[in-house]
Amino acid sequence: MTSYGLVMTTDHVLQVTDSRTGRSYELPIVDGAIRAIDLRQIKTSDDDFGLLSYDPAFQNTASCRSAITFIDGDKGILRYRGYPIEELARRSTFLDVSWLLLNGELPDKAESAAWAREITQHTYVHENIKKFIDGFHYDAHPMGILVSTLAALSTFYPQAKAVLDKAVRDEQVVRLIAKMPTLAAFAYRHALGLPYAYPDDDLSYAGNFLNMMRKMTEPKYEPDPVLEHALDVLFILHADHEQNCSTNAMRSVASSHADPYSAAAAAAAALYGPLHGGANEQVLRMLREIGSVDNVPGYIDRVKHGELKLMGFGHRVYKNYDPRATIIKEVANQVFEVTGRNPLLDIALELERIALEDDYFISHKLYPNVDFYSGIIYQAMGFPVAMFPVLFAIGRMPGWLAQWEEGMADPEQKISRPRQIYVGCGLRHMDGDSA
Ligand code: SDX
Repeated sequence: MTSYGLVMTTDHVLQVTDSRTGRSYELPIVDGAIRAIDLRQIKTSDDDFGLLSYDPAFQNTASCRSAITFIDGDKGILRYRGYPIEELARRSTFLDVSWLLLNGELPDKAESAAWAREITQHTYVHENIKKFIDGFHYDAHPMGILVSTLAALSTFYPQAKAVLDKAVRDEQVVRLIAKMPTLAAFAYRHALGLPYAYPDDDLSYAGNFLNMMRKMTEPKYEPDPVLEHALDVLFILHADHEQNCSTNAMRSVASSHADPYSAAAAAAAALYGPLHGGANEQVLRMLREIGSVDNVPGYIDRVKHGELKLMGFGHRVYKNYDPRATIIKEVANQVFEVTGRNPLLDIALELERIALEDDYFISHKLYPNVDFYSGIIYQAMGFPVAMFPVLFAIGRMPGWLAQWEEGMADPEQKISRPRQIYVGCGLRHMDGDSA
């Protein structure tokens, strides 16, 4: 029987023999995995704790069973609930994809309209949030503001602590998806010393975000339809990516039954890191540092000598081209027709050309990932570099929430609490105390 491309095996076992005792064991293999807890029976004596599995950074550990996103890293495949990302990017919308991630099916026309209305009705934030944001320095990084304001939202919705109540969870899901663009835009406007631009219910999700970012004195902001659509596609491409670092943070914090605002703040904090969602910002800084196509070979040499990483390249799962990067390159061409071509694209394309021919990158299976080209588009659209990870977070929120919901409903899950291998000092006493 197969499900989601995996073979469900129930009658195969892993036979192991412990050379310390000569005893043999049969560990059931299900869905291509053994249960780590089954190792605990392998002991050298009755008072032995039993074997642990040691897996720093969870490089070969499945933390959950999930039906949300399927990735085949070797083939460069990404599917949300079974739908190829290429189809969703071409034919769906970010809000419909959010519904798909959360509910398992694409919405019908009535569901789609009702869902968009519900999100639109929750885009405002409490006026006190503005005072909170005003407390940041003008040059505060917008991701720092976003992480903080997400956590602060938990104080405005104390009822969200009732995480075991599905209706309460559903209410917070709407609020978090709806308010992310508002928090992001407010952080941006604060940095520029501009008055906050309020949501416009007449606009689409992406259009309203552009409105709150860009509206000045005009009576009504009219988003450019090409940029509005490009942003919606970029949000789709970032919506989920199975058990990445920030999703793991979301699930882990939520496993203590913390409220979803606090868990989302932790997820956003993880995403902020330059090895994760912060990479799109680092890519732009890297391209600016390289400065011209002529400097690319020298930069590549520095990467190959281990001096620095090629930001936007490489992936824990994709050992082939990240399918999102392919789509983003297509979106770039549409955006540049409106904004004009971003000269940094030439440097990025030359970096990619050389890297994909170079044995170091081929042998390390390093290909452009989602962050390599997204920043070039964001910059061309006029977003400051520091806003790039914030844009990533807006897109990823539905994924974090769908994973949260799946974790909360999973009977196998409990509070996350890994074990360790203790390598510290044995028993010792303070001077003069020989107890
Ligand atoms: C995202 O997990 C997800 O799904 C994340 C994400 C999502 O949608 O949620 O896809 C979004 O975070 C994309 C990744 C963005 N980060 C970057 O672009 C930063 C640069 N990339 C690297 O830091 C790295 O590739 C990671 C963090 C993405 C993956 O790291 P791994 O899997 O832990 O691999 P590694 O660091 O152990 O590297 C393996 C080898 C090492 O060489 P050796 O020491 O074995 O000789 O590959 C080398 C690394 O030095 N390597 C790189 C490199 N990435 C890995 N060398 C140069 N440049 C790079 N970018």
